[in-house]
Amino acid sequence: MSKRNLLNNWNLTLPVVAAPMFIVSQLELVKASMKAGIVASMPALNNRTTEGFDEWLTELDAFRSSEKQTNGKDLPPYAINLIVHKTNFRVMPDLEIIVKHKVPIVITSLGANEDVVKAVQSYGGLVFHDVTNSYHAQKAINVGVDGLILVTAGAGGHAGTLNPIPFIQEIRSMFDGIILLGGCLSSGKDVATALQMGADLAYMGTRFINTDEAKAPEDYKNMIIASGTRDIVYTAAISGVPANFLGKSLEAAGITKEMWERKVKVDFGKELNTEAKAWTTIWSAGQGSATIQKTQALGDLVRDMKDDFITSVKTFETASSRYTL
Ligand SMILES: Cc1cc2nc3c(=O)[nH]c(=O)nc-3n(C[C@H](O)[C@H](O)[C@H](O)COP(=O)(O)O)c2cc1C
Repeated sequence: MSKRNLLNNWNLTLPVVAAPMFIVSQLELVKASMKAGIVASMPALNNRTTEGFDEWLTELDAFRSSEKQTNGKDLPPYAINLIVHKTNFRVMPDLEIIVKHKVPIVITSLGANEDVVKAVQSYGGLVFHDVTNSYHAQKAINVGVDGLILVTAGAGGHAGTLNPIPFIQEIRSMFDGIILLGGCLSSGKDVATALQMGADLAYMGTRFINTDEAKAPEDYKNMIIASGTRDIVYTAAISGVPANFLGKSLEAAGITKEMWERKVKVDFGKELNTEAKAWTTIWSAGQGSATIQKTQALGDLVRDMKDDFITSVKTFETASSRYTL
């Protein structure tokens, strides 16, 4: 049986994952996402210590056993993001906590690791791995992941460069598991488009920064509202790996076009005179910023996206009826 059938039992209001975001996604956002009937997530590293992360999961366990969705149904599963890289010394301790709490879904980034996959699957958990090309997708398939997250051009954070249309079809031809599509999805119409393209779930980050529950300063949220596609800068200057940032926050930190066009990381201490800090004062967002016009409560956002999703499916049916098919 394909893992894709599992989605039928998740009580989702919309096939959406609120993607993990460093600093931004914390307990409040996770709880609100589950209440609204979408898959919630947060990076383990958003708590400064493994002990603190353990406490967060204990709180989430209690929340899950006492709460229902606003429509009365059981809460959908949630996901924890684990950065599987040699520079992350917390991989193994955090994984132990994940296993202890039987976290339903683990989103791995950077390394597809067989031991991590086996540890999570041993208690019935699922592993979704984040990729930007078919080479890394194949490596993840080889270690037995349950889902692949295709992070495409224009996404917030460490975005890919591929166009989603060929990428998703290429991966579907080699993988029967759950496919999530990430990159610039902001509305219910975009969710419908992702499904039409072959995704099982829409993976949305930037859109959730503009919710009341996101841990992000108001200036950050307002900068997203004020930004269009041309204000998003794809650069390796901030973290050493290409990622999308709000151009206005780069300018405010004194990072010039010449600096962001270099393929190497800026030396913050030597080249900048400010308190600039990646992800804290230099803000990441994807090209989807162009379509985000307001900040609202997460529950209201999901409700609006659902209305838009339904309208968009009907519009598609009407448009299709114009042709002799
Ligand atoms: C501010 C910010 C922080 C992010 N932090 C992480 C992270 O810690 N781990 C991760 O796997 N992805 C991270 N991402 C990427 C998102 O999980 C997701 O892939 C991306 O936001 C999807 O594209 P979209 O922003 O266009 O919706 C981050 C994205 C943003 C905007």
